[in-house]
Amino acid sequence: MSESSVNPLDQNDVDPFAIAQTAAAQIAERTGVARHDIALTLGSGWGSAADLIGETTASFPAQEIEGFSAPALVGHGGLLRSILLPSGKRALVIGARTHYYEGHGVRRVVHSVRTAAATGAKTMILTNGAGGIKDHWTPGTPVLISDHINLTADSPLEGATFVDLTDLYSKRLRHVALGVRGDLDQGVYVQFRGPHYETPAEVQMVKTLGGHIVGMSTALEAIAARQAGMEVLGLSLITNLAAGISPTPLSHDEVIEAGKTAEPVISRLLADIVAAL
Ligand code: HPA
Repeated sequence: MSESSVNPLDQNDVDPFAIAQTAAAQIAERTGVARHDIALTLGSGWGSAADLIGETTASFPAQEIEGFSAPALVGHGGLLRSILLPSGKRALVIGARTHYYEGHGVRRVVHSVRTAAATGAKTMILTNGAGGIKDHWTPGTPVLISDHINLTADSPLEGATFVDLTDLYSKRLRHVALGVRGDLDQGVYVQFRGPHYETPAEVQMVKTLGGHIVGMSTALEAIAARQAGMEVLGLSLITNLAAGISPTPLSHDEVIEAGKTAEPVISRLLADIVAAL
């Protein structure tokens, strides 16, 4: 699908799950792989993990697949890759994230997750770059997401669809990650709409609410993954101290730079976690 053509998810009368099925069928055809076992969305700083987890057997721009959007941001990849893991399992790596702040609606935001589920994936690993609230989390610190607070006031669920979110960020998978690196810290991820960063007052509010990490993705995707029956592992790279925790103003360039600096270490970590699954 080219960027200029209409995205089928923008039409109200379509079934987003049917579009995810179509997308999964296209991925099966492009990759020659009927079923994937694990899916990973690689956010800022996590991209190199794709090269470390196994052998890439197919790679193509995500926007060539039904329902996917062209990347809005440089540094957000835009590729889908099928990777053969040493264990023989298959991973689908999603380097293309549609953010809620792009304003295309939540169906487009969670399409990659629904597509991953439709390819057969039972495990969804969601990674991101985010702001940290604990002041000992220096930029470059990876943190396991233990739970989330969704401040977008939106949901990927439509109609009277009630989905339990207890243990959304699987204790079992966090345990596996801790087996790889026992000193990984954990925190509650708080999704804001963005794209502006938070004010210091909003960050103080998050602290009061019990949040530790602030970002603009992941929570809506995790809900969609759970709806699809997947087990979720969430990892944040702390790219900066959140507004007001840091004495200096935030800059997108610094966020990207922190991601690049941490990339080799956290990508190795993620590859080791995938190997341990
Ligand atoms: N806030 C929200 N999103 C972010 C941040 C932040 O401080 N850093 C990277 N993504």
